[in-house]
Amino acid sequence: QTHEDVVGNPKTDEMAMNREDGYGTFLTTNQGLRVNDDQNQLKAGERGPSLLEDFIYREKMTHFDHERIPERVVHARGVAAHGYFQAYDDNANLSRAAFLQPGAVTPVFTRFSTVAGSRGSSDLARDVRGFAVKFYTEEGVYDLVGNNMPVFFIQDAIKFPDFVHAVKPEPHNEIPQAASAHDTFYDFISINPETTHMLLWVMSDRSLPRSLRMMEGFGVHTFRLVNAEGKARFVKFHWKPLLGTHSIAWEEAQQISGKDPDFHRRDLWNNIEGGNYPEWELGVQVVEEEDERKFDFDILDATKLIPEEQVPVIKLGKMVLNRNVDNYFAETEQVAFCLSHIVPGVDFSNDPLLQGRLFSYLDTQLKRLGGPNFHEIPINRSLAPIHNNQRDGHMRQTINKGNVAYGVNKLNHGYPQQAKASEGGFTSTYERVEGHKIRLRSKSFVDHYSQARLFWNSQTDVEKMHIVKALRFELSHVQHDEIRERTVLQLSQVAHDLASRVAEGLGMAVPSANGVQLNLAVPADGNVAHYQSGPV
Ligand code: HEM
Repeated sequence: QTHEDVVGNPKTDEMAMNREDGYGTFLTTNQGLRVNDDQNQLKAGERGPSLLEDFIYREKMTHFDHERIPERVVHARGVAAHGYFQAYDDNANLSRAAFLQPGAVTPVFTRFSTVAGSRGSSDLARDVRGFAVKFYTEEGVYDLVGNNMPVFFIQDAIKFPDFVHAVKPEPHNEIPQAASAHDTFYDFISINPETTHMLLWVMSDRSLPRSLRMMEGFGVHTFRLVNAEGKARFVKFHWKPLLGTHSIAWEEAQQISGKDPDFHRRDLWNNIEGGNYPEWELGVQVVEEEDERKFDFDILDATKLIPEEQVPVIKLGKMVLNRNVDNYFAETEQVAFCLSHIVPGVDFSNDPLLQGRLFSYLDTQLKRLGGPNFHEIPINRSLAPIHNNQRDGHMRQTINKGNVAYGVNKLNHGYPQQAKASEGGFTSTYERVEGHKIRLRSKSFVDHYSQARLFWNSQTDVEKMHIVKALRFELSHVQHDEIRERTVLQLSQVAHDLASRVAEGLGMAVPSANGVQLNLAVPADGNVAHYQSGPV
């Protein structure tokens, strides 16, 4: 007997009023009119032209014509399932969040995705996987929007459009569609050294999960947890699959992509249907605020991880996915994850990638989901009640009563009232911030190779061979020699054996271990801007 059998799932129960299966009913128009024939148009004579009057035809066709919404600009291909998160009894008093209190059970909706491919692309592309979890907590929706790798390609969100334009199919002919080698991607990689660490993760077995059920997840950025006493600590979030982390080989991935591009989607669906529910433990690495600067990297730099040998992962609870969606579009496609969906007890850090993401998701969803009311779509609806003075907009469902729609009023006795922290109100962590207004990458973000080297050295011989073979495969598909050479030069900054093994496989000169001069379009610290802004 599962937890859901015992207590149900408040979120899926709440969505019940929107479910419909048409069983035992008559066919109707969208106005409820019973339809006697929706297979033949209304015509002038048996062989005559169609009539404009045919509202049944027009309604059916118009709805069809408008079925599609834009796919996500990234992470377009995904699969999702419902489940619950149960907090463990002891979470070291790290957070006041209701969903982390001992034993608390919270419904979740989790979407896994690839990043670069379109909605119809293969599940087995060599790519990062998205790992986004929506917690429907009693204090509002909390989204943990992570990936299956602990670091990212870039350090500052303002580079994201450049990065994604380099990753996506080339704009003139949309070749290649899969996230495998092409000149724009390696051009970007080779002149942006901050990508090196993540490149190695993507070239490793981590980018070819055997199953979504066997994949880790990471919040990537440093966040904060804040406890009831107001004590804030920095944390890195981890999801650890109870089935362990497993990958497949590139040769297998290519074959599966050809034969069954839905491999991961099918595997997740079948296992949930069969009662074989996948489980992950949520954990955090905790760094006291006073220890923020004790590492030889900056914890605000999303291209760095905190080694688990240095800071172990504390387990906070377990997620179980136990219910497939009823309707892919209504749930998986319309779900909107957003980093700024946050609850008291969790807070942000000043990571410039995180800060930029805080803007991007709502912005893109306003377009993708057609306006400001997408929080009313069943899958996005909060279980906690919503009261505010926002009104109107496309497709508004809520019927707000009364003549008052502004804050700080006396007509409605001041309602809805602002909530103090003691009343469950969200308060940002108190933090002293001071500095010059400046476009600049922090000097503490400059070391791009040490952790890439750490990753390379952490790999077994077989795993290293896979990385080398992946890079040879990828770079052999790059057309421009100078892009290949620049990429191998980057690799030589990580480890000579890595660069020389890749170079050998490509029939290129092996770069010398020392004294390599990188001819980068941007300085090695990745910072173009300080040439524009003047000295500081
Ligand atoms: C999806 C932007 C970095 C994880 C998206 C979407 C955008 C976006 C616009 C589409 C959202 C939608 O249409 O609903 C950005 C920007 C980034 C960034 C601007 C950096 C500056 C990251 C990082 C992670 C990540 C570092 C992981 C920690 C995801 C996931 C999704 C997503 C998992 C898919 C959510 C879903 O399943 O619907 N991102 N992203 N992104 N992003 Fe990012």
